[in-house]
Amino acid sequence: MNVTKIAPSILSADFGCLEKEVASVVDAGCDWIHIDVMDGHFVPNITMGPLVVSALRRRFRCTLDVHLMIEKPESMIPSFVEAGADVITIHQEATHHPHRALQMIRSSGLRAGLAINPGTGLDSLPYLVGEMDLLLIMTVNPGFGGQTLIPATVSKVASARRQLVELGRGDVLIEVDGGINEETIREVYEAGANVFVAGSAVFDHSDRTDAVARLTKALAM
Ligand code: DX5
Ligand code: ZN
Repeated sequence: MNVTKIAPSILSADFGCLEKEVASVVDAGCDWIHIDVMDGHFVPNITMGPLVVSALRRRFRCTLDVHLMIEKPESMIPSFVEAGADVITIHQEATHHPHRALQMIRSSGLRAGLAINPGTGLDSLPYLVGEMDLLLIMTVNPGFGGQTLIPATVSKVASARRQLVELGRGDVLIEVDGGINEETIREVYEAGANVFVAGSAVFDHSDRTDAVARLTKALAM
């Protein structure tokens, strides 16, 4: 599979001028925007909800990639569908019924993603793969931007890519999230990732076009 996307995470953007911040990365050529939703329970931080998704939906046509770091995501899926998300990713650890939650997302006509924390294995993959379009492998513990990639997660990406191919689902996108920068992007790409979430590596730089170009270049080297 040769799909590769840089998905800037607005968690590191300036919320005082969010429209301008998102426009800066769209102008830099990004067509995926990663939106980190946190509830203060599943992760020790609170961020944004469906109102932010619908505000961005009204202003941008790009793919809105919503990462739900919330307990019992089933209860909020309809609100994010209504808000105009394109991809909704739920955490396996946040629900007793990840299979049902993935089905809910897909039956709403959206792409469904399953996220797993650094401490979670791939054991459920054969049982959930039929319901997913994307597997998000957390490369840091979720909750905050600006952390360092956990090295053991790279071999998990490679193992997931092998298993997906064996399961006949080589088309499932593997997204990596956390600590992705110019130094780390190449190894996760080589391991089989397609979608590279980048928060601080993009928004901590004033020249967004340059920041995105540097990541793209590191990917291609
Ligand atoms: C962390 C979030 C990430 C975060 C990544 O819980 O899921 O999307 O924004 O930030 P960086 O790229 O700075 O590690
Ligand atoms: Zn995320």
